[in-house]
Amino acid sequence: MKINENTLLEGKQVVLVPYNAEHVPRYHEWMKSPELQQLTASEPLNLEQEYEMQQSWREDDDKCTFIILDKQRWADGNAGEEQCMVGDVNIFLTDPTDPSLAELEVMVAEPSHRGKGIGKEVTRMMMSYGVTKLGVKQFEVKIGLDNQVSIAMFKKLHFQEVSVSKVFKEMTLEIRVDDLVRAKLLHDTAHMKERDYGQTCRNRQELVSK
Ligand SMILES: CC(C)(COP(=O)(O)OP(=O)(O)OC[C@H]1O[C@@H](n2cnc3c(N)ncnc32)[C@H](O)[C@@H]1OP(=O)(O)O)[C@@H](O)C(=O)NCCC(=O)NCCS
Repeated sequence: MKINENTLLEGKQVVLVPYNAEHVPRYHEWMKSPELQQLTASEPLNLEQEYEMQQSWREDDDKCTFIILDKQRWADGNAGEEQCMVGDVNIFLTDPTDPSLAELEVMVAEPSHRGKGIGKEVTRMMMSYGVTKLGVKQFEVKIGLDNQVSIAMFKKLHFQEVSVSKVFKEMTLEIRVDDLVRAKLLHDTAHMKERDYGQTCRNRQELVSK
């Protein structure tokens, strides 16, 4: 999607930035991990295919993606952006006739960053962006039945189990964004700031814990 090509979302622990070609090599390294392939139900791609995938996430109107950066590390300004990458988060508009339906995916690829609240923070930030900027009214997630951490996280975020596929060994959970859910989401992400990505890159230090 073009809509977020110059958008940076600032949270407490993370900043979300558009997925650029410069992120692809690290992303590609992550996705060589059999554990991540299994947890995210992804097929391994070669580097060229990974660049094509990045382009498609960038260009296609039904896909919106951000790379998750470690905010403190990025704001310190000493590390390249690739070294600050922690994971990614995506919205995929599943129904061409109804742009209010979205599938959500989140990956905290760096094991050292898991279990610290980043998954929950990023999911809420992306849902808030999806609701306010893309008009999403219902999110679904598809999670492998073995992925108990992810299932627990989405249940904590009030997603409801709607079906289990024994064939695909996955569960589908959903949340409808009614007025109550929307109000809670906006409250929980009230600290989130939307910034100009290019400008903020040139002045990263302005994000250091204020
Ligand atoms: C699933 C994932 C996104 C969670 O992100 P995270 O940053 O580790 O999770 P958080 O620290 O925000 O914790 C969120 C919730 O997950 C659950 N959780 C986290 N770590 C857990 C663990 N080790 N055991 C059980 N539940 C756990 C808890 O319910 C937690 O909520 P709580 O802290 O309020 O109790 C992350 O572990 C991940 O990306 N894993 C690999 C890829 C993947 O599985 N992606 C999802 C594919 S659908």
